[in-house]
Amino acid sequence: MASLFTYFLLTLCLFVIPSLSSDPDPLQDYCVGDLRASPSINGFPCKSLVSASDFFFSGLGSPLNTSNPNGVAISPANVLTFPGLNTLGLSMNNVEFAPGGVNPPHSHPRASEAGVVIEGSVFVGFLTTNNTLFSKVINAGEMFVVPRGLVHFQWNAGEGKARLITAFNSQLPGAVVLPSTLFGSVPEIPNAVLTKTFRTDDATVNNLKSKFAV
Ligand code: GLV
Ligand code: MN
Repeated sequence: MASLFTYFLLTLCLFVIPSLSSDPDPLQDYCVGDLRASPSINGFPCKSLVSASDFFFSGLGSPLNTSNPNGVAISPANVLTFPGLNTLGLSMNNVEFAPGGVNPPHSHPRASEAGVVIEGSVFVGFLTTNNTLFSKVINAGEMFVVPRGLVHFQWNAGEGKARLITAFNSQLPGAVVLPSTLFGSVPEIPNAVLTKTFRTDDATVNNLKSKFAV
């Protein structure tokens, strides 16, 4: 009986251990994603003909247009914009801030994040699941990390522009951006849920919905 139990535990470990990692490990040197095909099992099928250009990407360049209400613009290098990342478990963002710009509270369900400030001074923070805020103003050359799935934000705390490069251990980390998730969903979350949740009234909720409607 004891040995059966041991086998059971070993089998359980075989299933549990891979689920502790982030994206799965690649099974070949590369698998440039064929974005015209539908994603299969867990990612894109491999393109059959590849060339050097599949492994280079020039879309992280600066400057971006930050004239929007948040004063922030992001250019992503993920599997959808750079299919050479398919199966590699990696992606990056270029994040640029106007003075005072904010990258609003959001989380990445499939990745931890590491970032480095390239220009300016940025107030960076993340929140734990017991609502502890870890935050700091960091400057060019300084780095930060955000554990997988935790809510985080950045705010340009300097006088001029600011720029970050961020990196993720997923080819498609996903982003749950709290304000637009809650107030800009389609279909909408009923006001009864939001007024009770935020202990506020319909007028306030409608005002927020009008700002985040897509
Ligand atoms: C910053 O938080 C980013 O997701 O690039
Ligand atoms: Mn992020």
